[in-house]
Amino acid sequence: MTISSNISLQPYNTFGIAASARYFSAVRSIQDIQELLHSIEYKNNKHLILGGGSNLLITKNVDALVIKNELKGIELIKETSDHVFVKCAAGEVWHEFVMWCINKNYGGLENLSLIPGCTGASPMQNIGAYGIEIKDTFYEMEAVHAETGELKTFSKTECEFGYRESVFKRKFKNQFIITSVTFQLSKHPVFHIEYGAIKQELDAMQISELNIQDISQAVINIRSSKLPDPKKIGNAGSFFKNPEVSFSVYENLKKEFPNLVAYPLENQNYKLAAGWLIEQSGLKGYRKGDAGVHVLQALVLVNYGNASGNEIYNLSTHVLQTVKDKFGVELEREVNII
Ligand code: FAD
Ligand code: EPU
Repeated sequence: MTISSNISLQPYNTFGIAASARYFSAVRSIQDIQELLHSIEYKNNKHLILGGGSNLLITKNVDALVIKNELKGIELIKETSDHVFVKCAAGEVWHEFVMWCINKNYGGLENLSLIPGCTGASPMQNIGAYGIEIKDTFYEMEAVHAETGELKTFSKTECEFGYRESVFKRKFKNQFIITSVTFQLSKHPVFHIEYGAIKQELDAMQISELNIQDISQAVINIRSSKLPDPKKIGNAGSFFKNPEVSFSVYENLKKEFPNLVAYPLENQNYKLAAGWLIEQSGLKGYRKGDAGVHVLQALVLVNYGNASGNEIYNLSTHVLQTVKDKFGVELEREVNII
């Protein structure tokens, strides 16, 4: 385990923002982490845990110790007649882990194919796509306490998962370094294809006998058709959350904007499609300098090359304000601002 100083973070964030870290260390084991916690650099500075850097917007040089999580390993830890329990180390690339499960015909994660980043960050915002969230197959996770160095196991309930939410973004923010996540996957996969676009894509693929490989491929096709590839154009996926509003707010908006895209929730509230709100505010494809609103998916902000983190942030403020002025709805940023 080594600690370097003044390291460029540009290769480590999918927005491709040029910024540096005061200190930087890659950790490959729990022992590495515990050793790092005893270092002067750790004790005298703030820290930032980094996975794939695909949910971050860096707005300034990071005056902290950046800890790059590179713990590797996938392990089958328990098996019953119906389920397998698979423990994945935090530094494994999420999509590679999903593919590993699909190749073994372990069902549950196929709808979450092609989400960038590492497994260790998946509980942070309870990653989700195409009708599934990790909470649906999450069993438990392990994390090192950032002060005591103790390894703690968290159950699903303790993680307090919500829509793009967990206890690690709130009460326990910056307090734990996630080292592994264990999923309970099905040996007899149940298919989740209710999400409209998946059905359409499967029809187009002319699948006769459905399996989880096909669902994964359908999700990959849909995502590739509208989400920008960070290797080609910097971005961090959806920049904002889809806002939740009360029934009366929804009803009033629907009267004024009959094409409003909204989904009813179990608690009687409605979730609005933020991408639709942004597009209807005239901002889809909007560009200021190298910071832009993606031309195919208005929920995604992009870096066309040399935008600074502040330029992207200022653009996000402009989007927030424009949507608020037109619809009276306040968007919330999903991406972690550093
Ligand atoms: P990072 O960006 O490195 O970190 C994110 C946050 O988690 C930071 O606060 C960081 O400090 C913290 N963190 C990271 N690892 C650890 C750890 N081991 N312990 C403690 N804290 C940690 N998200 C979705 O939910 N659904 C999608 O469909 C989706 N699509 C996307 C599409 C694109 C093109 C892109 C670029 C992003 C997308 N995202 C999506 C967002 C992103 O991929 C996920 O949030 C992902 O889980 C982030 O993983 P990461 O390793 O890159 O995290
Ligand atoms: N829409 C528009 N204009 C746009 C974008 C979207 O009108 O520019 C409309 C679409 O026509 C559709 C609705 O908005 O009717 C929803 O669009 P889409 O299915 O693309 O999903 P989303 O709500 O924009 C969410 C997640 C994504 C996830 C997809 C698929 C959030 C914040 N985003 O996007 O997650 O992949 O659904 O499940 O919940 C991420 O979190 O980074 C992310 C990419």
